[in-house]
Amino acid sequence: CDKSLLFYVEKVAFCATLNENGPYGPFPQSKDVPFNKVYTNIGNCYNCSTGVFTAPVEGVYYFSFFYHAGGKTPSGMQLVKNGQMIVQSGDHGSKCDTAYNGGNAAVLQLKKHDRVCVQLLANHHVWGGGDSTTFNGFLLS
Ligand SMILES: *[C@@H]1O[C@H](CO)[C@@H](O)[C@H](O)[C@H]1NC(C)=O
Repeated sequence: CDKSLLFYVEKVAFCATLNENGPYGPFPQSKDVPFNKVYTNIGNCYNCSTGVFTAPVEGVYYFSFFYHAGGKTPSGMQLVKNGQMIVQSGDHGSKCDTAYNGGNAAVLQLKKHDRVCVQLLANHHVWGGGDSTTFNGFLLS
């Protein structure tokens, strides 16, 4: 995370999508999702190989995630701060639904070095193509 850049730009904002060209998961344990296609990363505080955003300064931040998923397998994700679930979204698998869309968002007061990421819930999946599964965040103040 580039603090010298932050000093000049005074902005922190990122937008990343999951680019797997297919389904992502299910896995037996919940898993930090590395949203690996980065559209915006002002301040460079989002790490696309781990999927973790690290707060460069204390402040109020907004985060959101959205996903698309096939309907037969359960789908679900959660926003996690320092390993603790904050908000989540999920859906049961069903024989008759062909697809789901879900997401959630939170305004969080973070301290410097707090870590925020989105996890795939254990035994759930999402779709990792078409820029339909996304993670966004920015510093409000
Ligand atoms: C992202 O995280 C990985 C694993 O912790 C680390 O090796 C890498 O240097 C980080 N990338 C950046 C740009 O900070």
